[in-house]
Amino acid sequence: MRLNAWLARAGVASRRGADELIKAGRVTVNGEPGQLNTFVESRDRVELDGRPLAKQGLAYVLLNKPPGVVTTARDPQGRPTVVGLVEHEARVVPVGRLDADTTGALLLTNDGELAYRLAHPRYEVDKVYVAHVDGDPEPQALARLERGVELEDGRTAPARARRTAPGRVELTVHEGRKHQVKRMLAAVGHPVRRLHRVRYGILTLDGLAPGEWRELTRTEVDELRRSARL
Ligand code: URA
Repeated sequence: MRLNAWLARAGVASRRGADELIKAGRVTVNGEPGQLNTFVESRDRVELDGRPLAKQGLAYVLLNKPPGVVTTARDPQGRPTVVGLVEHEARVVPVGRLDADTTGALLLTNDGELAYRLAHPRYEVDKVYVAHVDGDPEPQALARLERGVELEDGRTAPARARRTAPGRVELTVHEGRKHQVKRMLAAVGHPVRRLHRVRYGILTLDGLAPGEWRELTRTEVDELRRSARL
């Protein structure tokens, strides 16, 4: 694997950021300065600023989930899965769930402690959704979404709701109940036609086409761990 890809997989930087580190002479492979065209194999020793980098360890991946893909490792109905889309050498699993027809930002990791905490509403990781809905929500409907709506499994926590275009709502929640956004919008009279998650905590989909994934940067991992109070 090329050195910049290896560094990105190790969570050191994006590929472009890795190129900068290599050009700055901060990366060595088996004691020799790494070059942009250096290839790395599993037995090679890679160091950044003289510190050895772990080959695999913990992995953190952001996927732009396309529609029709299920958020599980295996689907009894044989549909494609997010785990199948992310061909990563580490066994990463999704944090929380997006419905099969929901698209957008999905975090996958093998960091069990972080995954557990991020899935817990106590840590208040914001999830921002854009919903295309039936009808055009009035300010009263948005206010209800913000105050919390009564669902069969209890009242939802305070949220933020904004109408961004006719029939389009941006909803920010930190809970992660099953079908929560669809149920909230249906409860205020605006069933969801299409749902897309544009942000998960600090993670946005900039530059990721549907179906594409990338490794998180070290800064993003640190920030997520901080938000989960780790
Ligand atoms: N809320 C939903 O209703 N569906 C999702 O996929 C995510 C949040």
